[in-house]
Amino acid sequence: MRLFKKDELIFNQNDLGDCAYIIEKGRVQIFLTKDKEQIPLSMLGEGEIFGEMSLLDNLSRSASAKAMEDCQLNVVNQSQLMERIYSADTIVRLLMRVLLRRLRGQNDAISGLKTDSAHDSLTEVNESEALSQIKLENKVFEAFQSKEFLMFQQPIVRLSAFDASNKAALADNIYGSESLLRWKSPLEGMIAPNLFIDIIENSSMIIPIGEWIIEESFRQANLLQNKRKNFSVSINISGRQFVHHHFIDRLVDLQKKYSIDPKTIKLEMTERILMDGVIVLENLNRCHDLGFKISIDDFGTGFSSLQYLSKMPIDYLKIDSSFVQKMLGDRKIEAVVKSITYLAKSLDMKIIAEGIETKEQQKYLSDLDCDFGQGFLFSKAIPTEDLIKLF
Ligand code: C2E
Ligand code: CMP
Ligand code: CA
Ligand code: CA
Repeated sequence: MRLFKKDELIFNQNDLGDCAYIIEKGRVQIFLTKDKEQIPLSMLGEGEIFGEMSLLDNLSRSASAKAMEDCQLNVVNQSQLMERIYSADTIVRLLMRVLLRRLRGQNDAISGLKTDSAHDSLTEVNESEALSQIKLENKVFEAFQSKEFLMFQQPIVRLSAFDASNKAALADNIYGSESLLRWKSPLEGMIAPNLFIDIIENSSMIIPIGEWIIEESFRQANLLQNKRKNFSVSINISGRQFVHHHFIDRLVDLQKKYSIDPKTIKLEMTERILMDGVIVLENLNRCHDLGFKISIDDFGTGFSSLQYLSKMPIDYLKIDSSFVQKMLGDRKIEAVVKSITYLAKSLDMKIIAEGIETKEQQKYLSDLDCDFGQGFLFSKAIPTEDLIKLF
């Protein structure tokens, strides 16, 4: 904390900037000097920051600052500020650079001075990277609007009863499926979601697209349930989508529209989402009270505490495919898989093992008393019409 007396100069225009300040108490005037005359630019009060521009663009102070009252100022040093800037999105940094240069330009015009052009910490913002990000976002959203997105279903089977040598076993033991997003581009063919899902999830597109994913999954669940009563469908839900204020209302509207029993729907969420505060917990409880099942995706790959398992209404744990694929031949991973299965049993949760590709993996998990399995050994994700044909 630094203290300045009323009328004391905090720094002068053209000084080198060493730190920025957040006003704890008092008022600060920002001004320019032209022909020995002071031109006020702004009066700042508690909670406001100043002195940040020269730290961001590595140029001298763009204006002077003086205390209008006795002031208490919190110091923000350059590394504290830059850490935040570097972790920001490319487009946010690009935006900051533009705004900063505009403000510098205006101050220069008022004071009649010309600041050297900047080689600042924001110069390295890659414009073409920002541009390609925007282009890709637009391309994904246009594809969604042109109805190039599809939902496929990947079967989930009962492991104990499954006999991999019997072809008919798949149809008999399918208990449900996971709804997986696909992009069928007329030019590029089928595009896997890991190439574009992050773009959707990290932008507000996830709200309309996420809603469509739920609607399409319910529509398909309805078709599947007409053939097989209580067929269970898992839907992947992203964090931003889950905490959106309309999420539960829309979920319930759509569930009614397609006459779906919530007990047949699993909302799949990663551990990371569950760690995200009070709204998540409230929404989880509300969804669970409405009858929806909650399933934890990629279990064991996050760094969350296990405490939440006992506090939250969780029905299923999905063992991540990375464990399943490495467990045979790696004693440590085998121990992890055993512990997850044991943990789930003791907490009255069911287990779904993902990424089962071999009979050996299936047998091992089935001997462990793991409830359900999903993976290429049984089937990859397929269109619902093809799944229905299996019944
Ligand atoms: P996930 O939820 O872990 O989905 C399982 C992924 O594993 C799927 O990849 C599936 O095709 C793949 N997989 C299934 N069995 C096997 C196997 O035996 N071996 C191997 N190597 N892979 C297997 P996909 O469809 O590419 O999805 C990737 C991720 O994209 C999903 O991971 C999920 O996080 C996300 N995603 C997919 N659809 C949606 C969606 O509708 N909404 C949201 N929010 N995320 C989605
Ligand atoms: P910096 O250039 O480090 O030092 C002067 C500070 O005054 C600057 O950072 C901003 O925090 C602030 N500042 C500069 N120009 C303006 C303006 N036009 N209006 C309000 N504040 C400004
Ligand atoms: Ca999933
Ligand atoms: Ca998964």
